[in-house]
Amino acid sequence: MDRNTISVGIIGFGTVGSGTAKILLNNKQLLKDRTGIDFNLTKIADLDIARDRGIKIPDGILTTDASEVLNDPKIDIVIELMGGIHPAKDFILKAIRNKKHVITANKALIATAGNEILSDADANEVCVGFEASVAGGIPIIKVLREGLIANNILAIYGIINGTSNYILTKMTNEKVDFSLALKEAQRLGYAEADPTFDIEGIDTAHKLTILSSLSYGIPFLYNDVYKEGITKITAMDIEFAIELGYKIKLLAILKAANSEIEMRVHPTMVPNDYLISKVDGVFNAIYVEGDAVGSTLYYGRGAGDMPTGSAVVADIVDIGERIIRSQKSRVRSQKKAAEFKIRKMEDVDSKYYFRFSALDKPGVLSKISGILGSYNISIASVIQKGRRIGGAVPLVVLTHLAKEKDVTQAIREIDQLPVVSDKTLFIRVEGEEA
Ligand code: NDP
Ligand code: HSE
Repeated sequence: MDRNTISVGIIGFGTVGSGTAKILLNNKQLLKDRTGIDFNLTKIADLDIARDRGIKIPDGILTTDASEVLNDPKIDIVIELMGGIHPAKDFILKAIRNKKHVITANKALIATAGNEILSDADANEVCVGFEASVAGGIPIIKVLREGLIANNILAIYGIINGTSNYILTKMTNEKVDFSLALKEAQRLGYAEADPTFDIEGIDTAHKLTILSSLSYGIPFLYNDVYKEGITKITAMDIEFAIELGYKIKLLAILKAANSEIEMRVHPTMVPNDYLISKVDGVFNAIYVEGDAVGSTLYYGRGAGDMPTGSAVVADIVDIGERIIRSQKSRVRSQKKAAEFKIRKMEDVDSKYYFRFSALDKPGVLSKISGILGSYNISIASVIQKGRRIGGAVPLVVLTHLAKEKDVTQAIREIDQLPVVSDKTLFIRVEGEEA
């Protein structure tokens, strides 16, 4: 008789675990109608199985012992949704060695230990699905693996952290204070267990690491991603950006040119007429440019129980169908280190926004512009707001394209001027050169 059931076990019954369980139980018939497969939720392990998760789980499924999932011979797919590195990694490796397929939403783990996990999975001929690890409900992994397989990927620009986009949107549209907006994102289940991952660009860098591996067939190289978070952005910078026709977004940027790959995460001023500047709240968007397809854009909720659960269940169906059809997963191309080069951040070219804290005195602008000029940094526009004779005022400068190395050296020199009273803030600016 042909097999038509797949058994899954979940470890971690939190935000994503409960969303996944809800979809598996509520849409069981829909999944069966579409695939002919019965997806059975066999076990859920969590440290606390008494807490109300807003979903009725049939008797005998909940356990506090993860090994009941890892060692159950009936379970085909183990779904790790507990987060963190240990013991999540040990559980995943144990599942793989027990010849179970694995699904995870754990981008921190895939970005930092994915090379080892995927090579163990290959050796044991099992699949590892991680669709939910990037951009919540947006099926971007499938897009890169399947939809755009015919393309060389030229560039990716992504808003891929829901929490920081939610905070920046609240600060921009409702003038809400940073820490209040973060608390709200935590209450809504968007933030990581340690929210510094969200606001310091770490989570975005984890996700960018995964996108870069899929786009260019390189290993997961988290340590090579340049990252900056949003904690230095003030309400004043948001106001200046609006006045100049921009929104500030935490962008993940991936580019390939001249055999070099650029991987960076930082707050970026994006022109108002770019679609990505209109992506607000917990929503994510990923712009992907391929050499055949041209520009494409993917948009959706980047975090939360049901959107992320939707991505986890997509992986369950994908792997379930492979198991039923006895199909292996596609061979991954893995470039050798000699075949690619990661561009150093100091060699990146960008336009810049500088906010100097300059004393309101004659000759200050010429001192600053003199230093910028000596580093080949050309000014596109200047704004000075307010007058505080003898006191500090914000002096905002937009530049044409300049090299990061020159910018850091120029700022270091400018910050030592007696007429500059505080550290200069700079934000990279996207958009065509005027
Ligand atoms: P939660 O903290 O809501 O859930 C994790 C659950 O795992 C908790 O219930 C926790 O129990 C449980 N747990 C911890 N250790 C163990 C263990 N040893 N055995 C069994 N259960 C354990 O996290 P999320 O659901 O938000 O996130 C899960 C993963 O999904 C993370 O990797 C996260 O980065 C990723 N992710 C999250 C998204 C989101 O929107 N929240 C979106 C995309 C990915 P307890 O609370 O008692 O410690
Ligand atoms: N903390 C993450 C975010 C969860 O805010 O985007 C989704 O990966």
